[in-house]
Amino acid sequence: MSQKNTAVIKQNNKPLKGVLRVPSDKSITQRAYIFGAMAEGVTTVNNPLNSADAEATLAAVISLGAELVSRTETQVVLRGVGGKGFTAPENGLIDCQNSGTGMRLLCGAIAGQGIKVSLSGDESLNKRPMERVAVPLRGMGAIVNTKEGKPPIEIDGGNLKAIEYHSPVSSAQIKSCVLLAGLQAEGTTVLVEPQTSRDHSEKMLPSFGVELRSKKNTETGENRVIIQGGQKLAACEINVPADPSSAAFIMVAASLLEGSDVTLPEVGMNPGRTGLLKALRQMDASIEIQNARFFGEEPVADLRIQGKKLKAANIKPADVVNMVDEIPVLMLAASLAEGDSIFEGLGELRVKESDRLALMIDNLKAAGIDCEITQNDGAIVRGKDSLKALDEPSNWTVEHDHRLAMTGAVAGLCSPAGIHLDDVDAVAVSWPNFMLDLQALTR
Ligand code: S3P
Repeated sequence: MSQKNTAVIKQNNKPLKGVLRVPSDKSITQRAYIFGAMAEGVTTVNNPLNSADAEATLAAVISLGAELVSRTETQVVLRGVGGKGFTAPENGLIDCQNSGTGMRLLCGAIAGQGIKVSLSGDESLNKRPMERVAVPLRGMGAIVNTKEGKPPIEIDGGNLKAIEYHSPVSSAQIKSCVLLAGLQAEGTTVLVEPQTSRDHSEKMLPSFGVELRSKKNTETGENRVIIQGGQKLAACEINVPADPSSAAFIMVAASLLEGSDVTLPEVGMNPGRTGLLKALRQMDASIEIQNARFFGEEPVADLRIQGKKLKAANIKPADVVNMVDEIPVLMLAASLAEGDSIFEGLGELRVKESDRLALMIDNLKAAGIDCEITQNDGAIVRGKDSLKALDEPSNWTVEHDHRLAMTGAVAGLCSPAGIHLDDVDAVAVSWPNFMLDLQALTR
């Protein structure tokens, strides 16, 4: 295994101040690349995310036949293959690196095309469950093999038949995979999820000329998405907002550090992504939503966060889907809030880039926080005034998980003894300049 770069981050008693446009949205950028690659014509992606996950997905679609027409820091222009025009990469392999979104959405995009491809990833992605997408794709007629449920996932695509698929988990990755396969299938595909997961695909596909319908059962919360097969995608222009999941780290850091006053422009306000904002406000955080507007179909706003003592959180299973990537940093906020915070329904955290539930509890305990996992993948975090004030920094295990690395860095700013991050470069998956950007706000 290669040597990891480590770092110690310590409280410096300075608030966060200033304006920061956090990196662009990872979910939206990857969708724009995949849909643009499938579309006929030239798609322009303005302000795409420049990070390892986004690069992996861009390289994947290029290896499937999309053409990179031009590229600058702030724009990617891509000529799609149109129709069922994907061609198998030279060796039949795609390396999705760390990106679960890339892998699962590509599975759906490839399943309807007459090519055979094997998708794998890095050590972390190769441990993640893939039967959740393999099952519906097999139901539609694709030949799909996994290695005991994990990558590599081999897809032998072809003529697909529509399906009505009831996903056991509310997952935008499963939903988007089924919708992309459904687009290429004969008949009308229906995807049913227990609760509405982020709907970036449903919002973006119409910009590519695709018609679909969503119906939410207001009593049960169940969401149905209906898509007619045989529709073609037509190229378009996408403007990518700032990523609310990246904004989350600054929202929590600014809330926790007394005297902070930070503005984050252009943050995505998709209702499937605003769970953390709502939870922090319920905890008494001072977050103003300014200049609410739209980028295409996606709502965005500028957020102003001022430091304020937080109260405990009470997170129910139904809340988790709208902040699934933000729970680790919310657990940190809970550690420094007044009172005991209760989290329920965190099972999905165990199958992210790492087992985020287990690692967060271990890392917080090492930092002196009284917390534990409770039944059915819940957690209790007993807040206190400060992270442990020993002479030695406490160890924070990252396991190549970008969100754990960034949560650890924010924890460091709240820790008099400091936090020792065992892999600081993991941030590159979604925010390569995170450490520098954070430092710039603390000046
Ligand atoms: C994503 C959906 C979420 C999230 C991931 C990105 C997406 O996963 O955790 O980081 O872009 O669709 P699930 O939908 O599997 O919960």
